[in-house]
Amino acid sequence: MKKIALGSDHAGYELKEHIKDVLYEAGYDVLDFGTDSEASVDYPYFGFEVAKTVSDGKTDAGILFCGTGIGMTIVANKVKGIRAALVNDLYTAIQSRRHNDANILVLGGRVLGKGLAEEIVKTWLATPFDGGRHEKRIEKITEWEKEHFM
Ligand code: RB5
Repeated sequence: MKKIALGSDHAGYELKEHIKDVLYEAGYDVLDFGTDSEASVDYPYFGFEVAKTVSDGKTDAGILFCGTGIGMTIVANKVKGIRAALVNDLYTAIQSRRHNDANILVLGGRVLGKGLAEEIVKTWLATPFDGGRHEKRIEKITEWEKEHFM
């Protein structure tokens, strides 16, 4: 996962900026879809922009930030091909990659400290999908999308 899309609302802005620096330092190619300040904005716009770029294969993964992470998770999972995981701990970070092949990580800017968020991001990006028995479960989600999404 090299090309990473970032997006936040005002409540996730500060954490997004911190994680952006961390990713640049680690050598990732980062695309920031905003927001660009702590002025109040609506999270769906930024969530959909990031989810679309991941869904279209223009970026390898996305990281979204809002206050709790819940709004961004709801938004991203509306987009075909997106498996967005709201993560507040390292175990879930690992499992969301190993078992769910999550392609968007969502973090709560009002929930997580910067240190834990940083570890979650590094761990999530470094953890591969297990495949195997989990593959057919992901395929079932993809099949459902094919039948029901436009
Ligand atoms: C903004 O106040 C807040 O509602 C938003 O960041 C997010 O937590 C929504 O799920």
